[in-house]
Parts: sequence; C-alpha cells; structure tokens
Amino acid sequence: MTTLNMIPSLPLESTDAERMAHYEKLRVRLLLLLKGEYDPIATMATVVCELHHAFDYFHWTGFYRNISGELVIGPYQGSHGCLRIAFNRGVCGAAARTKTTQLVNDVHTFPGHIACSSSTQSELVIPWVNEAGELMGVFDADSDFPAAFTQADADAIAELLQYLRAVLS
Ligand code: SME
Repeated sequence: MTTLNMIPSLPLESTDAERMAHYEKLRVRLLLLLKGEYDPIATMATVVCELHHAFDYFHWTGFYRNISGELVIGPYQGSHGCLRIAFNRGVCGAAARTKTTQLVNDVHTFPGHIACSSSTQSELVIPWVNEAGELMGVFDADSDFPAAFTQADADAIAELLQYLRAVLS
C-alpha cells in the first residue's frame, strides 16, 4: 500500500471550483491508495476515511449497504450512526427507495429525518447502484453546518462511486 499523509481539510466557505479541484486531488489519491485492492470493505473504509478528513464540513461520513431490502451500516467515521434504516425512513431511505441523490440543506424540514446526532444540520445521500441498476447501498455525509453540501459535492462523490463501481459492486 502507498503511504500518503492526509491532505489539508477544505473549509466550508470554499467555492464549487475549489471543491471540485479538491475532489480531483482525492480521486488521484484514492486510485493510488486502492491500487490492486478488490475487497469492498477495505475500499469503502478508505474512501470514507479520505473524504471525512479532506473536508471541514463532513461530520459523519459513511456507507449503508442494502442487505435484503434494509440499509445496514457499513464503514463510517464520526459519532455512532443508526445500525439499520428501513427504506421508508429518513434521508437514506429516500435515496434508497428512489435511487436518486438527496441533497438536504436543512434536515429539520425533511419529513422523517432520522436524527442519529442532534448536531446534524444538513445531509447528502447518494445511491450506490451496480451496473445492472441494482441498489447496493447509499453513501451518506452529514454536516453540523446548515446547507454545507452543494451540487459540486454531490456530482463529485457520485463520479467517485462510479470509478469504484467495479470493486464496490
Ligand atoms: N440522518 C440519516 C440517518 C443516518 S445517520 O444520520 C448516520 C437519515 O435520515 O437517513
């Protein structure tokens, strides 16, 4: 495995262009770090670690896996996450049910939001789908800042999941 020091954390106030440039750095790092790795848990854990530490506004970062129609927690960083989430509950459930990205600026306005942490203000959940279009799980990022995530975060993370699809599916 390649040894790399963590990159400096990007502040919330960063523009979309700065965010995109940071994601590109991360993509290159992840390709290096994950070269030859084929284990899904090792891959998810490394992706989560890199994302969580690369942005000041990621306070909970992790994967939920679709296990027989229920979201079961996977590798994550941050405080405790809910262990299991039904598809009909919360932001993660909405992403799983509809297979669409959920970019929520204020979780308090989202019907059925599950407050695993009372400090969470905004959230980004991206479905993780295999080549056959089947839902494998979701990627979830929560922030203690309101409206922390932008479409740039959503697009860049979705693209990252595409790169990793061969291993993650
Ligand atoms: N807030 C999420 C639950 C997951 S945790 O916060 C880690 C939701 O409503 O789906």
